[in-house]
Amino acid sequence: MSTEATEKKPIDFARGLEGVHVATTAISWIDGQNGVLLYRGIPIEEIAKHSNFEETSYLILYGKLPTKQQLEEFDAALKKNREIPDDLLDVIRKFPKDTHSMHVIRTAISFLGGFDPDAEDNTPEANYEKSIKIIAKFPTVVAAASIIRRGLEVIPPDSSLSMAANFLYMMSGEKPTAEEEKIMDTIMILHIEHGMNASTFSSIVTISTLADIYSAITSAIGTLKGPLHGGANERALRMIKEIGTRDNVRQYVENALANKQKIMGFGHRVYKAYDPRAKILRGYAESLSKSRGDMSGIEIAEEIEKIMIEKVGGKGIFPNVDFYSGLVYSHLNIPMEDFTPIFAMARSVGWCAHVMEYLEQNRIFRPRAVYVGSKDAHYVPIDERK
Ligand code: SDX
Repeated sequence: MSTEATEKKPIDFARGLEGVHVATTAISWIDGQNGVLLYRGIPIEEIAKHSNFEETSYLILYGKLPTKQQLEEFDAALKKNREIPDDLLDVIRKFPKDTHSMHVIRTAISFLGGFDPDAEDNTPEANYEKSIKIIAKFPTVVAAASIIRRGLEVIPPDSSLSMAANFLYMMSGEKPTAEEEKIMDTIMILHIEHGMNASTFSSIVTISTLADIYSAITSAIGTLKGPLHGGANERALRMIKEIGTRDNVRQYVENALANKQKIMGFGHRVYKAYDPRAKILRGYAESLSKSRGDMSGIEIAEEIEKIMIEKVGGKGIFPNVDFYSGLVYSHLNIPMEDFTPIFAMARSVGWCAHVMEYLEQNRIFRPRAVYVGSKDAHYVPIDERK
């Protein structure tokens, strides 16, 4: 059968797969026009208010809210798997101190795969077990990479603490206040899952060849690193600091737009309304700025938001999850280099869930490309080439 496009049958072509559905899923749903996000059918606002990261992880992975006993068993399994091998700490220590944190994280998760005796077992049972190991170890990897980069002693996980509290503890050696724990826990909930984003898509492309879940998560981490995806949170805060004062905002935004530069933390392929996650993060950024007595960052950020909505809101460009998250992290004393790794550690839940869901009806991804090259070239001996 000819693979040529014909007048009768034009080629289906969507750069960046814009608008193309590549799988079915029951994990989350996004209404981009109205800024709605549901995790297994439940609005994220309800989950952010009433749930915690462990319970939400169970919901995303297993498709329903756990009973009390199921949650206790799941939480115990996560706590049992938080430790990472000393050999991995030695590998992390070998990286130059200025290595991008996402290179270290990507290597670390891949390393864990090399030491998991069940790595190649793609049965649902084995993949659930490996998902729990990956999700449990990810915060320990992120905190260890951060504290080693900062030249400090590694702090082992504390199984008496929740995942959010334990992460903040491993990052600083200080146990967080209840407010800090709740905010960290909510940030992790807001990053846990988001449908067929680029990094999730890369995880299912990888698993679709029947590779293993560690390879799939490693693909996802590499994909999340980019500034158009998970790397935007760090850049958004750097931009806020670079602008420096509220009075400089209008000029900065107008120059950027005039030069077709993207303002980090704004815009979305699906949301053409305010990202519901950004609304919750803006609230935390405001409350932390007030309680810390440092309003400079939030005033600049809200001025950027006001002017961006004035200029491009009509094109459906609004703040996304990455715009306010950096301000919140900075008030929790988290270094900018660790913003995207935190995004990755939370999203590991969604990645694992999609990998296992896709395997239920697996079909290898093999799209086409429209050939635009020459079809009548011939070999030329090297001495005759110009
Ligand atoms: C995440 O997919 C997900 O769900 C991702 C995510 C998740 O949870 O997994 O939500 C997380 O990745 C959020 C996005 C983080 N990235 C950024 O904040 C980087 C800045 N944003 C842009 O690069 C952009 O908005 C994207 C990449 C997010 C979406 O890009 P699209 O859908 O390909 O849109 P586009 O680049 O084609 O832009 C359409 C128009 C263009 O203008 P015109 O050429 O039509 O005149 O909108 C403009 C763009 O210039 N535009 C922006 C802009 N984003 C789009 N203009 C200024 N600043 C921006 N941020």
